[in-house]
Amino acid sequence: LAFIIRQLLTNSIKYSEASDIVIKSYEQNDRTHLEVKDFGRGIDPKDISRIFDKGFTSTTKHHDHASTGMGLYLAKKAAKPLLIHMNVHSTPNLGTSFTLTFPKRNEFVNIISV
Ligand SMILES: Nc1ncnc2c1ncn2[C@@H]1O[C@H](COP(=O)(O)OP(=O)(O)O)[C@@H](O)[C@H]1O
Ligand SMILES: [Mg+2]
Repeated sequence: LAFIIRQLLTNSIKYSEASDIVIKSYEQNDRTHLEVKDFGRGIDPKDISRIFDKGFTSTTKHHDHASTGMGLYLAKKAAKPLLIHMNVHSTPNLGTSFTLTFPKRNEFVNIISV
């Protein structure tokens, strides 16, 4: 989980210019959610479905140093066995928000007792 959160935070820092980053947790539909939100450059709608792909950085020409496109791919992989769902909302030039949705307690107990 620390790995996943670190990926989201480093992306928020990398892809925004001196903007605030808002970290929020809340309960909704009996589940805990954790949101990491920035006010950076955002993600082009046509790229959104690919950001979790291995090695994908961006279709926009960019000069991003140290972009490997591995962070979100590995984060998603790590989230799966933890039953954490990752969701993203982004508007170009306005910002991006990633939300982690945690499993209900009994869902996790069911899995690990199999
Ligand atoms: N918070 C964000 N704001 C804008 N773009 C983002 C954000 N997070 C991810 N992206 C886009 O998704 C791509 C994939 O992210 P990631 O897998 O972490 O790779 P990397 O950080 O090495 O570029 C990034 O290259 C970037 O284009
Ligand atoms: Mg990254």
